[in-house]
Amino acid sequence: MSQTLAIIKPDAAGSGRTGRIIAQLESAGFTVRAVRMLTMTRAQAEAFYDVHRERPFYGSLVAFMTSGPCIPMALEAPDAVRRLREVIGATDPAEADPGTVRALNAESKERNAIHGSDSDENARREIGFFFPECDRLG
Ligand code: RTP
Ligand code: MG
Repeated sequence: MSQTLAIIKPDAAGSGRTGRIIAQLESAGFTVRAVRMLTMTRAQAEAFYDVHRERPFYGSLVAFMTSGPCIPMALEAPDAVRRLREVIGATDPAEADPGTVRALNAESKERNAIHGSDSDENARREIGFFFPECDRLG
């Protein structure tokens, strides 16, 4: 078993899509090991997306991610990082496979409903970012 971090982003959390997204993730074989809801501060969003600081979309991404409540979750499954990225689909919902979380719920390449960690190392960092008090989740 391994773990990854998902975030239901403000577009989806603010439009009544939380329950169906969690249900889809559980149906896909993930167990929720930790969950919370918060509106990120600017400093939190800037730190979380620090790897994208030089990208042209960074300012807009930080504004979007602080625009309302989001829902970080630590998810567990075999091969969790790769499997979650498969289930959420491509960054741009127009390119996401049918039936993926983004194909079903996202509005645009930026307002794309959900985040998924992109490596085991980043998953550990990102779970620790939102759940620093947890030595062992679940
Ligand atoms: P995520 O980190 O949210 O799981 O998404 P990802 O790996 O598929 O995409 P990444 O390249 O890490 O980008 C992080 C988030 O930035 C926004 N974005 N906007 N307008 C654009 O061209 C653009 N590109 C990326 C998206 O919200 C993306 O998920
Ligand atoms: Mg990413």
